[in-house]
Amino acid sequence: MEIDLNKVPAHIGIIMDGNGRWAKNKNKIRSFGHKEGAERVIDIVEESYRLGVKYLTLYAFSTENWKRPADEVGYLMTLLNSFIDKKLKRLHENGVKINVLGDIDRLDDGTFKSVKKAIETTKDNKKMVLNIALSYGGRAEIVRASKLIARDYKDGKLNLPDITEDSFNDFLYTKDIPPVDLLIRPGGEKRISNFLLYQLAYAEFIFVDTLWPDFREENLREAILEYQNRNRRYGGL
Ligand code: FPP
Repeated sequence: MEIDLNKVPAHIGIIMDGNGRWAKNKNKIRSFGHKEGAERVIDIVEESYRLGVKYLTLYAFSTENWKRPADEVGYLMTLLNSFIDKKLKRLHENGVKINVLGDIDRLDDGTFKSVKKAIETTKDNKKMVLNIALSYGGRAEIVRASKLIARDYKDGKLNLPDITEDSFNDFLYTKDIPPVDLLIRPGGEKRISNFLLYQLAYAEFIFVDTLWPDFREENLREAILEYQNRNRRYGGL
């Protein structure tokens, strides 16, 4: 079966899981798995825009990941910096707009600047939006949105009837971005780990055992095919 290019999910989310186990299976340290995992990112991004995906959201670092040992956190930040250093030009030339979802004030200075540069450089690109969820937590995002709404209400900028399911999204990091159609989680675990809680309400979930460092373009295409064979009813009949 071939992918129907007219029915490609507009928004795909991916929880890039299994780097640590991938490294352990090879008797290597966890960072080795992260490095290999980072290598997969560009291939999956490029396959996504070739297929016509409009929004791709990758879970790179959660609010809970700050609890990991400092050297692992530092290494993940180095990988992100190096991804931006090496791939920004190519992504920009290919029309990818980079966006970051999460509490970026917690990032170190270097990573913060690098992320800002990627966002600024690509802000007018139209081919695909690449959202990198970084220092991101779904619950924290909803609480943050609630506080922003409460502030606007208090300041008289917002009335109660203005607060709707759609307008709520304007206060999330995903303002102007449609909900997720397809969530893919490699790595064998079947949970959402605080990822895009509001935006996943009617997403189709695909869990695969392949660990993220082994996840290739072909695995993405398989997931899209399976998605196309599902019957989305959004609670209707
Ligand atoms: C989960 O694997 C993965 C992460 C916490 C980090 C994901 C980051 C990357 C793939 C690289 C950097 C990102 C970009 C955008 C360049 P895990 O460590 O929880 O694996 P385990 O469950 O096997 O321990």
